[in-house]
Amino acid sequence: MKKKGLIPPHGGELMNLVVSDARRAELEKSAADLPRIALSDREQCDLELLAVGAMSPLTGFLNEADFHGVCDNMHLAGGLPWSMPITCSVDTAMAEKIAIGSQVVLTDNQDRVLAVMTVEEKYAHDKKKEAEKAYGTPDEAHPGVAIVCSQGDVCLSGKLEVLTPRHDAEFPKYRLTPMQTRAAFEERGWRRVVAFQTRNPIHRAHEYITKCALEICDGLLVHPLVGETKKGDIPADVRMKCYEVLLANYYNPKNTLLSVWPAAMRYAGPREAILHALVRKNYGASHFIVGRDHAGVGDYYGTYDAQEIFDEFNREELDIIPLKFEHNFWCGKSGAMASDKTTNSTKEDRVFLSGTKVREMLVKGERPPVEFTRPEIADILIESMKQ
Ligand code: ADX
Repeated sequence: MKKKGLIPPHGGELMNLVVSDARRAELEKSAADLPRIALSDREQCDLELLAVGAMSPLTGFLNEADFHGVCDNMHLAGGLPWSMPITCSVDTAMAEKIAIGSQVVLTDNQDRVLAVMTVEEKYAHDKKKEAEKAYGTPDEAHPGVAIVCSQGDVCLSGKLEVLTPRHDAEFPKYRLTPMQTRAAFEERGWRRVVAFQTRNPIHRAHEYITKCALEICDGLLVHPLVGETKKGDIPADVRMKCYEVLLANYYNPKNTLLSVWPAAMRYAGPREAILHALVRKNYGASHFIVGRDHAGVGDYYGTYDAQEIFDEFNREELDIIPLKFEHNFWCGKSGAMASDKTTNSTKEDRVFLSGTKVREMLVKGERPPVEFTRPEIADILIESMKQ
């Protein structure tokens, strides 16, 4: 029988790469004389996730064997599932200056120290492979692939000692580490916890699937991604206002926890859905919502590809349970949210609005219908479009 309690982290142990105060003082002194590498936005997000254990069992950026294992068969060299490369790269000229065994300082884009890496490996960044395997396309018009292509040609890996996971972190009161979400779940007596990933304001379809999921779990972790997103996505500060208002008005605070996920969006569809689930397991979630075109962009992925990919793994190796939802919509005939599974209504009975249509309405100051989004959310979005 499974032990009662929260789901164990991926690989069994929650990592913490943040050094003690004494070690930080030492590293701060030696950092002044070391080569500095300014991390990209995505790398900064990944570093923070590594630092706080959200990427457990990873203890640093991927080494060469793990990079290829992840690209080729979605497993780390040690055998655990992992679906997306997590890399730190530099250009060839910089790589030549860095000796194996030496230390480098990793900084943010304002040259502030984040971490010190003791470089153990330098290897060719196979961007073509990463794009084709992890994103399913070599197309540089794909926003995630575009970032891969803009990265350095040499990846570095090695022991990471983190001084500060992030300077001036946004939303500090909601920025809970895996250790902190786990403590919050324990305190509330939740064991079956469902996590909800989103990069959008919560509309009625999102609200519906989160509430369906909550019906069969003890608690709901609303876990919006607040790291780097593409142009055109609604900024995180606007979305946070939407989440606060929606949760206060339409959810039961006893059963819902809002916390931010400081990750960068990769738009990698199915492969990213696996990453999203494994990471949420580290935060203590036993279940994970995967709806239509999860983490997708444009027409790169099929509507349910991100659900089907879960079947390529053994149940036990992922452990976290995907809760798969059909594409749902408001059905006028039933007077309720529904999907093809639950209604045989015709197209005319269904409220369907494209992202472009919604944006057009909001820009004009028009609220989309209440069957699509709650009026309080529409008002926040309309206001944000004026600026
Ligand atoms: S995502 O990039 O974070 O996946 P989004 O914030 O739109 O984008 O979606 C959050 C979650 O809700 C994903 O699991 C997605 O599949 C699901 N979802 C979004 N819209 C619908 C819908 N109409 N029906 C079912 N699931 C949906």
